[in-house]
Amino acid sequence: MTTNDTPPDATISPAVDEDHDEDLDDEQAEALTRDSRAPRDLLPYFQTLGDLPPAPLNPADLFPVSQPLEVEIGSGRGLFLVNAGLNCPTINFLGVEYDFKEGRRAARRFQKRNFNNVRLLGADARIVMRDYLQTGSAQAIHVYFPDPWWKRRHKKRRIYSEEFLVQAARILHPQGLLHAWTDVEEYFQVMLALTAKNPEFIPLPAPAERSATHDMDYHTSFERKKRKLGLPIYRARWQRR
Ligand SMILES: C[S@@+](CC[C@H](N)C(=O)[O-])C[C@H]1O[C@@H](n2cnc3c(N)ncnc32)[C@H](O)[C@@H]1O
Repeated sequence: MTTNDTPPDATISPAVDEDHDEDLDDEQAEALTRDSRAPRDLLPYFQTLGDLPPAPLNPADLFPVSQPLEVEIGSGRGLFLVNAGLNCPTINFLGVEYDFKEGRRAARRFQKRNFNNVRLLGADARIVMRDYLQTGSAQAIHVYFPDPWWKRRHKKRRIYSEEFLVQAARILHPQGLLHAWTDVEEYFQVMLALTAKNPEFIPLPAPAERSATHDMDYHTSFERKKRKLGLPIYRARWQRR
């Protein structure tokens, strides 16, 4: 990251900022999404939109067993999905990640464990939410440590937006849950304000911080990184009406 990316907020150290790797711009992400097919070695754990039939998504094309679906947006290296997949075998978890290097890394973890309830879609989540995920098809949507896009002119790339909430409300079934965590207080305040404006979401008490018992016992890799730096984590949860 260049110095131009440093946030105006002096309380956020450059070391923290560097962890948000925002190399892919919109055009690159779309190109990846359009052109790429998953290398065969990680099928069926990692797939792209090019590997799937045209929209909308039929979960049966990804998961061998029909069971409730939860979606994670921006899965990174997949720690959330690994723990969730192990702890909740009766739920199908779909991660969406447009950085294929990270997505493949996540998928190798799923492959090692022979998961049949965890899959990673290498794609731009905005396209997946708008065109692929069907109305009322998910019981939860998770978004953890979304890129903050510090530069003013890049703010429109933030995944958590009004449109994100419109799509989340459509995709979640009634009483479905939306989970959002971040280490960026300013972004957290924006998330709270945007969600408060959407009448489809009711705020629920935020989950409490748990002590980790081992190095994999964190919600996500970013949570581990930030907590080890002693930084606060902002957590929120809403229920779809
Ligand atoms: C800061 S990382 C957090 C990763 C993970 N959630 C964690 O907590 O460890 C944000 C991730 O979101 C991904 N991402 C950002 N925008 C995305 C989009 N539009 N579609 C899919 N993935 C996206 C990035 O590539 C990156 O891996």
